[in-house]
Amino acid sequence: MLFEDKVALVTAAGAGIGEAIALRLAAEGAAVVVSDVNDAAGQSVVDAIISAGGKAAYMHANVAEPDDVNALVSFAVESFGGLHLAVNNAGIGAMPKPVQDVTDAEWDRVMNVNLRGTFIAMKAQVKHFSANGGGAIVNTASLAGISSTPLLTPYGASKHGVVSLTRSVAIENASKGIRINAVAPGAIETASLASLPEDARAGYAAQVPMKRLGQAHEIANAVIWLLSDEASFVTGVVLPVDGGTVNA
Ligand SMILES: NC(=O)c1ccc[n+]([C@@H]2O[C@H](COP(=O)([O-])OP(=O)(O)OC[C@H]3O[C@@H](n4cnc5c(N)ncnc54)[C@H](O)[C@@H]3O)[C@@H](O)[C@H]2O)c1
Repeated sequence: MLFEDKVALVTAAGAGIGEAIALRLAAEGAAVVVSDVNDAAGQSVVDAIISAGGKAAYMHANVAEPDDVNALVSFAVESFGGLHLAVNNAGIGAMPKPVQDVTDAEWDRVMNVNLRGTFIAMKAQVKHFSANGGGAIVNTASLAGISSTPLLTPYGASKHGVVSLTRSVAIENASKGIRINAVAPGAIETASLASLPEDARAGYAAQVPMKRLGQAHEIANAVIWLLSDEASFVTGVVLPVDGGTVNA
């Protein structure tokens, strides 16, 4: 097992990509702090991990609320005696629209969850790792963080910000035993895509060189590798996991 005796935390782990990451971390031996805003969903992920023989605890955390985010590190320490791995996965979208129609409130909502939430989480994690022998962080960015996103201005800007945070903070901490990387998922079949009509989903899949949507576990596989010692010389990287889309 890759993460025996390690403690991990995952934001937005009640569903989708975060759930797949939390389940995989637990299967690899980590004790996992599962956090989300949907308490029933988060608790059900914890229940699934415990029924499979793993270790997990749930904490409510809205990443747009700095107090919630800051409390996650101490919750991990109180629950499992430390923190070694963190996945800042929470992110939301907004209705596609031209930039001149985006309201300031829509901009703030997306930025507060996707970018400020990741910033506050990373500050708390880096502080803890710096004082406790290091650790590894993976942020969930997006292809929207490394390419243009017409009609999705706030989302694209927030994910470009996540990419910048990943690269800059990784280099600040590269000599301190702290590795920080990101994944950039392409179109992944989680709730938001699964709820679209079949022809819309087929349209997304047709744009992917592999001619299919990705699955949450395929993002989890990349995150697990980046968190693990298998990636011990890898930091500041943003890894597209997208069926080839970024190069199409
Ligand atoms: N699904 C995709 O195609 C795709 C593509 C690129 C990037 N991403 C990114 O991957 C991450 C996860 O996406 P997903 O599709 O699995 O998400 P999702 O829409 O399936 O939601 C996952 C969880 O996020 C939780 N959540 C929502 N707002 C939150 C908040 N403020 N604080 C804490 N938790 C919150 C929800 O309750 C839910 O349980 C996001 O950062 C997203 O931007 C997804």
